[in-house]
Amino acid sequence: MRKQIAAANWKMNLSVSEAATLFDQLLVTEHNLSAHQEAIFAVPAIYIPLATQKLTGKNNYYVAAQNCYPKSNGAYTGEISAPMFASVGVKHIVIGHSERREYFGESDGFLAEKTDAVLAAGSIPIFCCGEPLDIREAGTQNSFVETQLKNSLFHLSAEEITKVVIAYEPIWAIGTGKTASSFQAQEIHAYIRSVFADKYGQAIADQISILYGGSVKASNAKEIFSQPDVDGGLVGGASLIATEFSAIINALK
Ligand code: PGA
Repeated sequence: MRKQIAAANWKMNLSVSEAATLFDQLLVTEHNLSAHQEAIFAVPAIYIPLATQKLTGKNNYYVAAQNCYPKSNGAYTGEISAPMFASVGVKHIVIGHSERREYFGESDGFLAEKTDAVLAAGSIPIFCCGEPLDIREAGTQNSFVETQLKNSLFHLSAEEITKVVIAYEPIWAIGTGKTASSFQAQEIHAYIRSVFADKYGQAIADQISILYGGSVKASNAKEIFSQPDVDGGLVGGASLIATEFSAIINALK
């Protein structure tokens, strides 16, 4: 079975003591993750040591980074590279979140470079895509997302693409409380899988985990995750509440 993933995206939230408390509250619950299930925590980089310590000895729980710079090292003040994250045991890096695309002007080409850097470091990119509201209203979301994927990922080999996790996050659903219906999620997830199937073949496409993101919460996770092409979620707001994120982990297939 494909990996089923509940990924928390804390964004730029919480003090260090609040972060510690959130882990303690969350880990009170025994989630009994199966071999194909993972809980991933994309915390602010400065909290990676704390997160690593809290998750020590827990199988299938991982600490992730929210971003990286595509160069390995050098005079890039304030940036952190993929090999640096790998050196502290971070295996997953979120790439191309819509907030980075919007507020930091990250282009498809730049995200292709970042993806290459993450793979070269032996790590796993969690590559985000998704359309804004006007595109959804125009009904052209499939071709919009397809272009994002083609521009940033289609240079990868078949072996490389199986290492990438996709997060489909419609921008109109992020932090808005407005979720795509499970029907809308399944429809575009199946389309995304078909885009990879056309390029790499069905067997490769079937190995790629595609997460849904955008106002996932305890009350809708099970229904969304139950869709055949939805392999879990990337969760912002609800990942900051222990009981909510616990229930979301438990909603994995
Ligand atoms: P949200 O954020 O769950 O708060 O909508 C999701 C995300 O941006 O990854």
